[in-house]
Amino acid sequence: MSISFERDGDIVILAANNPPVNALGAEVRRGLSEGIKRAVAEGAKAVLIYGEGRTWFAGADIREFGKPPVEPGLPGVCDEIEACPIPVVAALHGTVLGGGLEVAVSCHYRLALPSTKLGVPEVNLGLLPGAGGTQRLPRLAGYETAVAMVTSGRPVSAAKALEAGIVDRVEDGKPRALGLAYATELVAEGAKPRPVGARPAPQAPDFAAMRAEVVKKARGQLAPVTAFDAVAASASLPFAEGLKEERRLFMSLMDTDQRKGMIHAFFAERQVSKLPELKGVAPRALNSIGVIGGGTMGAGIATAALLAGLRVSLIEMTEEAAEAARGRVAGNLAGALKRGKISQQKHDAMLGTALTTAADYAALSDADVIIEAVFEDMAVKKQVFAQIEAHAKPSAILASNTSYLDINEIAANTTRPADVIGLHFFSPAHVMRLLEVVVADATAPDVVATGFELGKMLGKTTVRSGVCDGFIGNRILSTYRTAADHMILDGASPYEIDRVLENFGFAMGPFAVADLAGLDIGWANRKRLAPNRHPRERVSEHADKLCEAGHFGQKTGRGYYIYEGRSKSINPDVMPLIEAERAALGITPKTFSDDDILRRYMAAMVNEAAKVVGEGIARRPLDVDMVLLMGYGFPRYHGGPLKWADIQGLGNLLADIEGFAKEDDHFWQPAPLLQELVASNRSFDDLNT
Ligand code: CAA
Repeated sequence: MSISFERDGDIVILAANNPPVNALGAEVRRGLSEGIKRAVAEGAKAVLIYGEGRTWFAGADIREFGKPPVEPGLPGVCDEIEACPIPVVAALHGTVLGGGLEVAVSCHYRLALPSTKLGVPEVNLGLLPGAGGTQRLPRLAGYETAVAMVTSGRPVSAAKALEAGIVDRVEDGKPRALGLAYATELVAEGAKPRPVGARPAPQAPDFAAMRAEVVKKARGQLAPVTAFDAVAASASLPFAEGLKEERRLFMSLMDTDQRKGMIHAFFAERQVSKLPELKGVAPRALNSIGVIGGGTMGAGIATAALLAGLRVSLIEMTEEAAEAARGRVAGNLAGALKRGKISQQKHDAMLGTALTTAADYAALSDADVIIEAVFEDMAVKKQVFAQIEAHAKPSAILASNTSYLDINEIAANTTRPADVIGLHFFSPAHVMRLLEVVVADATAPDVVATGFELGKMLGKTTVRSGVCDGFIGNRILSTYRTAADHMILDGASPYEIDRVLENFGFAMGPFAVADLAGLDIGWANRKRLAPNRHPRERVSEHADKLCEAGHFGQKTGRGYYIYEGRSKSINPDVMPLIEAERAALGITPKTFSDDDILRRYMAAMVNEAAKVVGEGIARRPLDVDMVLLMGYGFPRYHGGPLKWADIQGLGNLLADIEGFAKEDDHFWQPAPLLQELVASNRSFDDLNT
């Protein structure tokens, strides 16, 4: 039974038991509703509600969204609890989230364990608190706190909740015992129910300014702004009317593509690291790692590992370079200390005993996983692997952080290819949440399992990729960037393209991103690929010209944009370079509408992503979605490129690609998987299960 009914003298105890997170599914809601009615019918003097297991209710059952509603609905259950004629006490612990917090604020008295986190994260699912939260929270905590919680989705601590008036007391112990003591005390005092809905709404603040701020931060996401409107409605409408308005706004969000995209992202994030082939495969021991190369990437990987409690040996070519690498790690850790992520004591221990920097590979002899993060050149990588092999212990895993190079070739050059794997981090590696685990032909299953274990320890979203040029993410990036470069040759400007993609929801357009990553990276890559380039490939050269002039983007202050302090402006040298290139190629520039730009860019992305899935480089469409969301700034509220494609309709996308192919049938070759899905009337999502 999801809600058990028990009596302790005058007090009825309703205990939730719906593992793992006590989600408020239909049975739980029914149990609460019936429990409250029965408690009153049986003459109890108070009701205690608490959660068994790791948490109070962590929210509505997300799996029910988008399906026909099952009675009783959560808003009705919350109203029933609030209207209960005897006091209802909530004993909170764990994660009191979404509908869970809404049930809590419908109770009359609340206590929380000190470790409790309370929040309304519905905006992260493209929704708003739809069971009275937008009306009850401001009445308890005031508008500033309610608006911050509802529009950001960020939870608050028990201490903050106490200060804000969301809970009445914070005590340490077991929820059941604490709750029972509280309820007993209330009964002894003759305490009455205290319905939050009966309180007047607080004085309305300057909602216009607050709303403008929310709109700015939302960057195209509907839910935070709609959630704000629901909270603001509580100031002008009586409570019952406010609830109706909240419901109306909630249902309007339920119908949106953004809600579908964000819920897809929620489940994909949890599914992505579950690989059927790793069931029952134990990872190898993982206490220390070695990193070769102490540049930005190597130092970032070392920092991430230190923050996760691992020991790190960081190897550079000389003692001076090793010292400089130590300085980079120290800089990263100082940032973590400043932001309160680690204590001074932990910081000192990380730099003191946990980190070794050296110019000698012998320092790697104890490392469980050794990751090279040296220059992207196959000959250099092979040399480094030979040295690693000479010092690594037999159980050690040998990993390359290459972004593009062939892991099979690297592995074949060692005497132990089963131990070789790609661990592709994204820079800065202690901040970015994505890790691609690149599985080569000979990689042993327990090596793959250890790659995933490392990702988990470092708090990364870890995605399996097969071997190909650029793996999942950079391969797709390279294709949509090429589509953007083609549009530039044909008449669009980099600035128009950046604007369109930023309006779509990317934090930065592709050319601003190129400036941030360093234009020299693309330059080196183009040179690497030039010898095998297909003669029909259209290559734009304006970016090479910028690089030849020493302009590498942000790091040199000049690229597609000019960077001065915090300001960014268009580089006036860029368009003349592009115009000269068009003239030399005899291209008459045409106009691209915003829609043209978006359709071509996204068609290129989806088409390449479909090839990546079709070839088995990514196992499932959701793997691609996670890579683009976590590593490439794809807007979460679109769910990832393949979820977005499903929502647009795959037939429309294929028709676009076939249309573009009339101009350039070399670049626009439809992915066989996309054709198959359209022909069989299926979606990418159908391949996720
Ligand atoms: N509904 C259904 N399933 C849920 C769920 C929910 N609300 N929350 C978690 N789960 C599932 C997860 O999918 C996962 O399932 P699998 O093991 O099958 O993958 C399992 O519970 C454990 O979850 P996590 O792996 O995420 O565990 P965690 O310990 O890392 O995190 C958590 C726990 C903080 C509660 C996290 O799961 C979480 O943030 N959940 C979502 C909370 C949320 O958004 N609540 C609001 C729901 S919307 C709502 O309530 C609307 C309303 O107003 C009516």
